[in-house]
Formats: sequence, C-alpha cells, structure tokens
Amino acid sequence: MAGLFITFEGIDGSGKSTQMRMLASALRLRGLEVVATREPGGTPFGKRLRAAILDLHEQVDPLAELLLFAADRAQHVRTLLRPAIDSNHIVLSDRYADATRAYQGAGRGFSKELIAEVIELATAGLKPDLTLIFDLSVAECVARARRRMHDGHKGDRLDSEDAAFHTRVRNAYLEIARQEPDRVRIIDASGSIDETHTRTMDVVMRFIKSRES
Ligand code: TMP
Repeated sequence: MAGLFITFEGIDGSGKSTQMRMLASALRLRGLEVVATREPGGTPFGKRLRAAILDLHEQVDPLAELLLFAADRAQHVRTLLRPAIDSNHIVLSDRYADATRAYQGAGRGFSKELIAEVIELATAGLKPDLTLIFDLSVAECVARARRRMHDGHKGDRLDSEDAAFHTRVRNAYLEIARQEPDRVRIIDASGSIDETHTRTMDVVMRFIKSRES
C-alpha cells in the first residue's frame, strides 16, 4: 500500500494522544508499518522548539508563536513526514496544520490569508489524507484537564488559556470539518477511551480499505 498521512486534532484534553497511541498499536498488530509522531516536537530539533514554545513561564508574542510552530513544521515535513510517507509508511501525527488554523487563526485572531500562507510555506503543500478531530465540549475538556493536573500533569502555556479561547478553537475545528468533509472526520470523544477507540478504528479501517480497493 502507498504511504498514508493521518493527523489527530482536537482541543486540549480531548484524548487524541491516547487514541493515537492505541490506533498505532492496533495497526502494528495487523502488520502495518506505522510511524507515530507529533507537533510540535516530532524531530530532535523540534523537541527543543516544543520546550521553548510551550514553556509556562515564557511570554511569547503571538507572531513569534505562529512562526515557531511553522519552523517546527518545516523541519518535521522535510526530515520526517515526507521521507516516511514516501517510504510507504502509515504516518500518524498528533497535530499538524489544522492546529495552526484553529489555535493561531481562531484562537489568536490571525487572518485566514496569513495563516494559509504560513502553512503553505512550512508544509510545501503536504496535506493529510485523513484528519480525525476528537470532539468534546470545552467544559468536559477542562474537567479532564483538572483531573490530569491532580495526577501531576503540569499543563502548558496554551492549556492555560481561558474557556473563550478553547471555544473559538473548538468551533474552528468544527468549521474545518464542515468545509473539508472528504478529508476530515469528527469523532465523538465524550464516551470511554474504549468506545472512542472503537469509533476511531472503524473510521480508519474503512479509509484504509477504500484506499486499497
Ligand atoms: P499537545 O498538548 O496536543 O501536544 O499540543 C501542544 C499545544 O500546542 C496545544 O495546546 C496546541 C498547541 N499548538 C498550536 O497552538 N498550534 C500548532 O500549530 C500546534 C501544532 C500546536
């Protein structure tokens, strides 16, 4: 099978990272070659950028933030994503360009035109074949994030934005799904981890079969 590029998106606390790990294991058990990566931080240089961008103690200018996510993505596309897709792997990425549309576009308020230009520059046109948006109410995400913090997870600079910010981000994701129904699927993430995994497997296996036939 030719390479496939699948991205995982959703507001903070939606459970997408857990779902991506579970999907990667399930696909590997079926004998498929999977590369699991993330943004920011999918490359050695990107890990250093991630630590800087998400540092809770930094005051980061919104334009600097936008360009740093783009720098991380440029490195990721050129050194990891493109080569892995060209080697016919199934590449799963925990966030990609839609996160910039949602967080820096709707969240921070940069224009759609500027966001589109920056994304085009960073990705050189590389688009996901399939994007899964894990959707959950902002109130439930906040409740989950509180439970995680109680368990010792510190959170990051964007986690600590207010509910209005996360509502704009969620609405932007839902809008992207409406505009690109062929590429983007919304997965209801309000149930248990196993229920969401079953939904995810269903969508991804159908997609893989449709590509094989
Ligand atoms: P994560 O916690 O899902 O790994 O994502 C890290 C944070 O970075 C999350 O709050 C979303 C944010 N982010 C952006 O604001 N823009 C982007 O382009 C990406 C990739 C992530």
